Amino acid sequence: MTRTRTAMLAALTLVAGASGTALAAQTASAGAAAAACTVDYEVQNDWGSGFTAAVTVTNNGAATSGWSLGWTYAGSQKVTSSWNAKVSQSGAAVTAANESHNATLSTGGSASFGFQATYSGGNAIPATFTLNGVTCNADGGTDPTDPTDPTDPTDPTGPSARVDNPYDGAQVYVNPEWSANAAAESGGDRVADEPTGVWLDRTAAIEGANGGMGLRDHLDAALEQKGSGELVVQLVIYNLPGRDCSALASNGELGPTEIDRYKTEYIDPIKEILGDSKYASLRIVTTVEIDSLPNLVTNTGSRPTAVPECDTMKANGNYVKGVGYALAQLGDVPNVYNYIDAGHHGWIGWDDNFGASADIIREAASAEGATVADVHGFITNTANYSALEEENFSIDDSVNGTSVRQSKWVDWNRYVDELSFAQAFRNELVSKGFESGIGMLIDTSRNGWGGSARPTGPGPQTSVDAYVDGGRYDLRIHPGNWCNQSGAGLGERPQASPAAGIDAYVWMKPPGESDGASELIDNDEGKGFDRMCDPTYEGNVRNGNNPSNALPNAPISGKWFSAQFQELLKNAYPPLS
Ligand code: BGC
Repeated sequence: MTRTRTAMLAALTLVAGASGTALAAQTASAGAAAAACTVDYEVQNDWGSGFTAAVTVTNNGAATSGWSLGWTYAGSQKVTSSWNAKVSQSGAAVTAANESHNATLSTGGSASFGFQATYSGGNAIPATFTLNGVTCNADGGTDPTDPTDPTDPTDPTGPSARVDNPYDGAQVYVNPEWSANAAAESGGDRVADEPTGVWLDRTAAIEGANGGMGLRDHLDAALEQKGSGELVVQLVIYNLPGRDCSALASNGELGPTEIDRYKTEYIDPIKEILGDSKYASLRIVTTVEIDSLPNLVTNTGSRPTAVPECDTMKANGNYVKGVGYALAQLGDVPNVYNYIDAGHHGWIGWDDNFGASADIIREAASAEGATVADVHGFITNTANYSALEEENFSIDDSVNGTSVRQSKWVDWNRYVDELSFAQAFRNELVSKGFESGIGMLIDTSRNGWGGSARPTGPGPQTSVDAYVDGGRYDLRIHPGNWCNQSGAGLGERPQASPAAGIDAYVWMKPPGESDGASELIDNDEGKGFDRMCDPTYEGNVRNGNNPSNALPNAPISGKWFSAQFQELLKNAYPPLS
């Protein structure tokens, strides 16, 4: 006998089937017109220990360039194969993601796919479906019957539901390649067990560049480290067309117009791997495109800091599109947590840059099918040196009636340190439409500023400059300096929930990996020579025409730089024991 089961809407009605046998069928009820999506789930052939099913999803919301349909089984059903969708399963939670040929769902459009599954015991139809995170067959709002509805704060967390802060209660993946480099350094064993980011900095990194570990190798190693607990894996999505438009040290392999290659050769393959059900138990943090969007605000147009390469990326829209595409696609994977790069206080902490950067980030989060629901949070200070907390002065201080904001060092910035900036920028992003639950990450890999030169108290009140310069921990010559800084140390060790609004302190840029070459070095990665990494350079308008303060003899960005690692160990704050 063929059993037909159709789930149309959440209300359950019993009707007689064609054969006269009473079958469980879910049919339409009031509220159908308002549903954001409807799902028809039909068991076509059921042989008692397995079945095939046909599913049609209809989108009643905004058109989308990619879709992901989720449901959770109450029974033991296990999907074994599928057609016309990529179906993966973690515990009872199933995700069906589009194939490229049926990726687009217009408003009112439908897509159909099928699968085969095994089961024992009952084969009940799932109670709830979600399309791109939105509950179907209901009024589109919170579904209190859905144990994994992310919009319902009272529901327990289902196996694939995102948690508020992925770092809470979780270990973080230790990259064995970085760990080996650190452990091989004198004194490096003190930090070699710390977690660091895995940078997917070119297409070849997905399979493993130059014989190194690829993405699957890292995820497999992460599963080993995870054991039965929770584990966060930190990935850096870093391959935009025209990458690093305002600098040269981290230019990449894709030219300014190569957005299609970014999508099909880079993001799509990453999504495919992250969506593998084998990895569904990992909490995968993706930090999306470091040092990209704020460039479109600060280094374009009539600004004195403008560079033609950033004007190009603003005009062609490929940073915005690339970030949007990455968010939309990776956000479809239920256990991926997207964090967008949000610069740092010494870049966008000025009034002219702050709101405008939030605006462009918000725009990217609506591009190429992305929504704010694809964004879990933001990361600041990646690979940068801004001190976490300046304790010897605050933005509200003044000396003889002159505000700290007027000091040469602060130069009218609204923030004197990274923590106060990250917390304020979080609020700004929420005011621009991001979800109120977003969390911030701060990269503390090279912002420690310990060592013997660290001030032990406030500077003298003889002038505002003496006060600020005498008290500040950040010992750079200028906050615009960013490359292999002499005198810098490791910052706070990676940790979860260190402060309000902050999901974690992380070492996203691995300590010991160069920020850029100190002279021109031939390479096949597209990396240029940026004189901000040359210790003899006297500077440009972006660092107030000051010396670069970079360490000498640096290899190209990303390569192991022993002298930098030793500098970071020596000046660590908190100090290493
Ligand atoms: C480089 C990347 C590298 C990353 C981590 C960036 O500055 O451009 O190639 O993977 O740093 O070291």
